[in-house]
Amino acid sequence: MKNELEAICGLVRGCGGIIRNADRKNIHVDAKSGPADFVTDYDKKVQDMLQKGLLDIVPDAHFIGEEGSTHKFSTEGKFFIVDPIDGTTNFIKDFHASAVSVALAVDGAVELAVIYNPYLDEIFTARRGHGAFCNGKPIHVSAEPLERGIVIFGTSPYNEELSEKSFKLAYEYHRKSLDVRRSGSAALDLCNIAAGRAELFFELMLSPWDYAAGALIVEEAGGIVTDADGYALPLERPCSLVARNAVARPL
Ligand code: IPD
Ligand code: CA
Ligand code: CA
Repeated sequence: MKNELEAICGLVRGCGGIIRNADRKNIHVDAKSGPADFVTDYDKKVQDMLQKGLLDIVPDAHFIGEEGSTHKFSTEGKFFIVDPIDGTTNFIKDFHASAVSVALAVDGAVELAVIYNPYLDEIFTARRGHGAFCNGKPIHVSAEPLERGIVIFGTSPYNEELSEKSFKLAYEYHRKSLDVRRSGSAALDLCNIAAGRAELFFELMLSPWDYAAGALIVEEAGGIVTDADGYALPLERPCSLVARNAVARPL
């Protein structure tokens, strides 16, 4: 799997270059399902490039991409689970907090993960059982408790019914930690937990392509990732997520 990981990194870096060098005057934005849910021609272009390139690297794999028409996952076989641009609203606004996220699941478990932040040129990688890395250097979650920690939260922007609960919970975390942050990219939020830059990340609704890669990176960095009730994350449907170091206790 090591060679596959390296090949995926090369492909993902190329996709990041497309995002970073986007022709900003000619980005076509379309509305998707709900409020603040957009797709651009770059999401589609990067996804097409990933689909072709990833299936060249692992020809017997299936491909699930956020912008694709089928999201059918199975616990048998190999599946790429891909978010071509995590942080599309940031990309549209040129906010410089977006990432390419690629996970390879084998028989129901994510084995390889790559997340690339093209703006900082940071590539986060993990192979199950072999640790997590940023630009080739090992990374670890922090050892700080919640009281001395930063809490990152996501607002589940495509699920308006969750916003009040999200902000109430963020307020509680704000009271019990140093402060809270909201980036607009769940993939990068997970990488920041893995790198020990923040202590806990929560979001009340995410999709598998938002967290499939990031969850393995956090776990391989020594962190814990579950849904809000403490159960393992599914790969076949959306769910809540809490990612943290080993000492920051969730509320
Ligand atoms: C979104 C981002 C955002 C999170 C949303 C996601 P997208 O992904 O990760 O931070 O709050 O829940 O859907 O739509 O930009 O790929
Ligand atoms: Ca996403
Ligand atoms: Ca996306």
